[in-house]
Amino acid sequence: MVKLEGKIAFIAGGAGNVGEGIVRSFLKAGATVITTSRKQEKLDALRDRLGEITDNKFIPIVGSLGDIDSAEKLRDQILQKSDRLDAVVASIGGTWKDGVPMIQVSMEDWEKYILTNLTTHFVCARTFLPVLTKTKSSSYTFLGGSAAENTIPNYSLVAIPAAGQLMMAKVLMEEMKDSGVRINEVMINSLVNTRATKEAKPEWITADEIGDYVAWLASDEAHMVRSSVPYLQEQSR
Ligand SMILES: NC(=O)c1ccc[n+]([C@@H]2O[C@H](COP(=O)([O-])OP(=O)(O)OC[C@H]3O[C@@H](n4cnc5c(N)ncnc54)[C@H](OP(=O)(O)O)[C@@H]3O)[C@@H](O)[C@H]2O)c1
Repeated sequence: MVKLEGKIAFIAGGAGNVGEGIVRSFLKAGATVITTSRKQEKLDALRDRLGEITDNKFIPIVGSLGDIDSAEKLRDQILQKSDRLDAVVASIGGTWKDGVPMIQVSMEDWEKYILTNLTTHFVCARTFLPVLTKTKSSSYTFLGGSAAENTIPNYSLVAIPAAGQLMMAKVLMEEMKDSGVRINEVMINSLVNTRATKEAKPEWITADEIGDYVAWLASDEAHMVRSSVPYLQEQSR
């Protein structure tokens, strides 16, 4: 069982489908979990789904990572409640249901997905990595998907930001290799079985399995894992 007692984690996107599994795993491992959503009702619904494990270690805050000012406001609110952060997880972004060929993508959709799936990661990393440098043995984990590396037609608005996000993670790993912060990007090479999945397949990874892995990555047991891109694969079972 992963141990995160005494650790304080910020899970960006914790009210999302994958984020919920990550929040649950961190709480089960004993961490204090701060998470954010742009909507209070999503945080209320998350608390209801988590149930008793929230105890007094679940700290939801309404906020956005869409621009630097909002993110810095969020950071200041977090640092008023807690003197430090030990771990940050960026489970941000969303899928694109009405995929069309690239040459039919509207400017509006292009800007929307670059913001949601790429700019948010830049804003989150730029705001919270400096906070983590002040804590010994801290970690920053990006969540990524296989669209970053596999060419899928009509999926450009997920794939292009995902590829940019992976390079962002690699640049930060290099630039901050002496900072003391362990930066990793967990690549999910599977569809994910989440609360939103209508017909799950047994080979898909579950949000809680991702959560357990990411919680381990934030623990002291994973002290040797840095600047890595581990792949979580779907598999028959
Ligand atoms: N689901 C899958 O099958 C799958 C597969 C491979 C990889 N992944 C990866 O898993 C991660 C999460 O995906 P998901 O399926 O959980 O997506 P999701 O359910 O759509 O959740 C995305 C989260 O991103 C947050 N977000 C978006 N824009 C934001 C902003 N401006 N400020 C703050 N937060 C913002 C949302 O917060 P709000 O609560 O404010 O809306 C939401 O909680 C992504 O990195 C994705 O690449 C997922």
